[in-house]
Amino acid sequence: MNESYHKLIKGNKIFSESRTFNDPEYFKKLSLGQKPEHLWIGCSDSRVPANEITNTKSGEIFVHRNIANLVIHTDLNLISVLEYAVNVLEVKDIIVCGHYGCGGVRAAMTNNTFGVVDKWLRNIKDVYHKNQTELEKITDQDSREDRLTELNVMEQVLKLAETKIVQKAWHQGRNLEIHGWVYGLNNGLIKELNTICNDIKDVPEIYRYKF
Ligand code: CO
Repeated sequence: MNESYHKLIKGNKIFSESRTFNDPEYFKKLSLGQKPEHLWIGCSDSRVPANEITNTKSGEIFVHRNIANLVIHTDLNLISVLEYAVNVLEVKDIIVCGHYGCGGVRAAMTNNTFGVVDKWLRNIKDVYHKNQTELEKITDQDSREDRLTELNVMEQVLKLAETKIVQKAWHQGRNLEIHGWVYGLNNGLIKELNTICNDIKDVPEIYRYKF
């Protein structure tokens, strides 16, 4: 058995013991149910774990992760998570968290093929194309990639606002906010993008549903 695998099982024992050391009821309380106030849509990248980088604990964030934190309306996985989080858990915030140095964004900026993921990354190419003029004014490749990372997050925030699930919650008078963040792998800090969506007015008219 490989050493790093064994480390996971050992690590789990340490985790379990450390949580019950000061609070013997810790897991008993958690097992009663969850009521997280935030939904996280982040990248699968191993360096961007939702709880760790926000200094939160089990039970505080409902999490969905995929390559390059994309919101695809036909993705049953994401839409199911979103529906459950908004309608059942009644989260107050949805956070789309991208990160600088994202391999998915970098790959989408090339003309190389990588396999099935090409179809997934195609969505980032669309964001690039939509913002081509702005992006190609940036001559430094890393800065251009950073900007595309930000624009990609903003696009996903809007995609969430375009869902019937979110619009229905707003229609019912719920206070549901969608935030866009980009995390810096090199400093551990989150940059809040100026892109909060919390009202149907933030959605272009053609995407609005009537209820
Ligand atoms: Co990534």
